[in-house]
Amino acid sequence: EKGGYKHYMAKEIAQQPTVVGGVLSAYVQNDQITMDLGPVDFSKIDRLSIVACGTAYYAGLTAKYWFEHYARLPVDIDVASEFRYREAPFSPGTAALFVSQSGETADTLAALRYSRDKADHIISLINVPESSIARESDVAVKIHAGVEVSVASTKAFTAQLTSFAIMALKAAHQRGHMSADVLAGKLAELRQLPGLMSAALSIDDITQKISTKLAEARDVLFLGRGQMFPLALEGALKLKEISYIHAEGYASGELKHGPIALVDQHTPIVVMAPHDGLFDKTVSNMQEVMARGGRVLLISDVRAADSAGDGVWNTITMPEAPELLQPILYAIPAQLIAYHTAIAKGTDVDQPRNLAKSVTVE
Ligand code: M6R
Repeated sequence: EKGGYKHYMAKEIAQQPTVVGGVLSAYVQNDQITMDLGPVDFSKIDRLSIVACGTAYYAGLTAKYWFEHYARLPVDIDVASEFRYREAPFSPGTAALFVSQSGETADTLAALRYSRDKADHIISLINVPESSIARESDVAVKIHAGVEVSVASTKAFTAQLTSFAIMALKAAHQRGHMSADVLAGKLAELRQLPGLMSAALSIDDITQKISTKLAEARDVLFLGRGQMFPLALEGALKLKEISYIHAEGYASGELKHGPIALVDQHTPIVVMAPHDGLFDKTVSNMQEVMARGGRVLLISDVRAADSAGDGVWNTITMPEAPELLQPILYAIPAQLIAYHTAIAKGTDVDQPRNLAKSVTVE
């Protein structure tokens, strides 16, 4: 069933170009978005409250950047275990959205039930249509990832992100912040995603080499800015989860508010920074790190790798991509770093200790 791969995780990483292609065929036809959200009309919503756990939470956090940037829709985002006990007040005009691959995560389900009579709509982004979370939602949107076996979530994450990108564009159009022409352009960008993801998978060899060195580290920091910040968190979670190396993700701008004290020659710092409008700011964060002897692994595109200057410990070069696609594409290095580091450490990649695929207890 692993289809020639050593682990389900490797197979599921490799399936991603096909999976995101499937999401696009499910929800985009020509220049139109066909994603059915039932009664939900984003022009009648003032606020979106997203709730999830773990990797699904990071997909929601990325979506917050998209909904706010493209649709000018304010988004609250919470981890389900905090949300459910906080007794968060809902203002009228709020839709609640729950993200869950398994659809059975206890905290996410409890948060959904708490929101039942308080939110205008209960939306979910799910992979399993028969799951509890799907059944208890007003609108359950499928991510079309197929069965995900490995405990570390990979293709579900990129399928969640692709579905969210489409939903955010739909919201932008409905709310009058994106013309039909601009929308058509963004959908054309999304159609490049499967090809770009296949191209990105060719970083496998270099990532494997670098990971043998990362495997010697005790701590690893991941940095990202803007829509790449959630990817830094996801990279750190993946690495801890399957290689058991302590890793933290930070917003690049937070570095000098504490974590820079950790930087020395033993702590690799993974910087996820495509060449976007924020790149120069990230370069100055990198220089601060390198000036303190830190070893920077820069994950970026060719243009950025050229202008980043000397002193970088290692570089993983990604294909250039439109801004909207970058977080989805950069999931691949986050996953491959964790995968190869885990192999170098000899851990059980698909069944990491102490973890279950579906967390049905609080
Ligand atoms: O099934 P869910 O999407 O609700 O699961 C949420 C988290 O438990 C899950 O994403 C977890 O963080 C992954 N094992 C991370 O790789």
